[in-house]
Amino acid sequence: MTKDPFTPPRLPATARPETLALDAGLQIDPVTRAIQPGISMSVNNLVIPGEGAFSAAELGDIAQEPFTYARWLNPTTRALETRLAALEGAEDALASATGLAAIAGVFLSLLKQGDHLIISDVTYAGAAELARTVLPDLGIEVTPVNLSRPGALQAALRPNTRLVHCESPANPILRLTDLAEVARIAHAHGALVSVDSTLATPVATRPLTLGVDLVIHSLTKFINGHGDALGGIVAGRRDLIARLRARAVYLGAAMPAMNAWLILRGIDTLFPRMRQIAESAARVAAFLETHPKVIRALYPGLPSHPQHDLAKAQMAIPGGMIFFRTADPQAMARSLAARLQIIHSAFSLGHQRSIVTLLDTAEMMRGTYALTPEQEAEYRAYAGDGGFRLSIGLESPDDLIADLDQALSA
Ligand SMILES: Cc1ncc(COP(=O)(O)O)c(C=O)c1O
Repeated sequence: MTKDPFTPPRLPATARPETLALDAGLQIDPVTRAIQPGISMSVNNLVIPGEGAFSAAELGDIAQEPFTYARWLNPTTRALETRLAALEGAEDALASATGLAAIAGVFLSLLKQGDHLIISDVTYAGAAELARTVLPDLGIEVTPVNLSRPGALQAALRPNTRLVHCESPANPILRLTDLAEVARIAHAHGALVSVDSTLATPVATRPLTLGVDLVIHSLTKFINGHGDALGGIVAGRRDLIARLRARAVYLGAAMPAMNAWLILRGIDTLFPRMRQIAESAARVAAFLETHPKVIRALYPGLPSHPQHDLAKAQMAIPGGMIFFRTADPQAMARSLAARLQIIHSAFSLGHQRSIVTLLDTAEMMRGTYALTPEQEAEYRAYAGDGGFRLSIGLESPDDLIADLDQALSA
């Protein structure tokens, strides 16, 4: 008998991702035979004395042990892990309370004092700040590198480089990284590769098929898609996930069962949502590109995106994020916040409602990134002095275009 009751129930091996998004990890309740997943809110599960361990240090692969205590493993969270592993084509996955906890868990599990991390010089701000401030305090060397240039990665490798962490598309400027090329270079050097694929989602890109070792998502964004639950996931080989899980018990950022349940429900509609969002984003991006008040619109699906060819090769759909620039971005931000009637001025992204945020380049350089002058010039080639990160939702694209038109033209 398998010890893990959350193995997917007899899905055909040929099941496609759209089907896995609904059925991987789905359990039929043995008492009620309900086909909607339930929530196991219990912190405790009955233990059989002598079976399992009291100290986490004595556990083997926790995912193979009986459920005992919810910080170690919870049945609802396990169902979410099973579904995301299936979507990413991974052997296993580990959920955590937030996307940043997933990233921190990777760094704090795979790196130790004296190791070297290469991190994309443009990443989600929280990851960049964690790498710039916390890791050096622990004796971990960190080098931010423009990973969209494979030559820059090659030049930055050191004998003690253990991990290369990329993000594609990178938040906020939507610069892409050739994941297969990064994996090839890093592996030839004996380093592991992790990618934050939050902006792509498994609908666009499956990084493990390109040779990446670990794929990370903030589930808070498109994967849950409804703006009502924080969450994170790391998916990859069983031995790597077991290493992360053994440490995650002590880092303590377990995903609450209620969040796992909400995110499972969000994933039910991930594929049609993302396809609709990408279709709308393509129309909005094409509109912005020709608007007289817009200096530049960046969207991987636009032929004008500097890496459009890579986007076509690496992304099945170009995603739901647009970056656009106008003159005097600070004044425009105030004007947009006052005038937009449908699009919300807020920080997050990947939800059912469209959201816009100003990202001022000087502020990003001061607070978040520690870039060399050359790297800052490469950032400014995309972002100029700053611009607007627009996350497209499920509203009518005609309404979004009309809303932007009236607010921009004022
Ligand atoms: C690309 C990316 N990764 C990670 C995170 C962190 O996710 P969370 O807010 O769930 O910790 C974010 C949040 O904005 C993000 O945009």
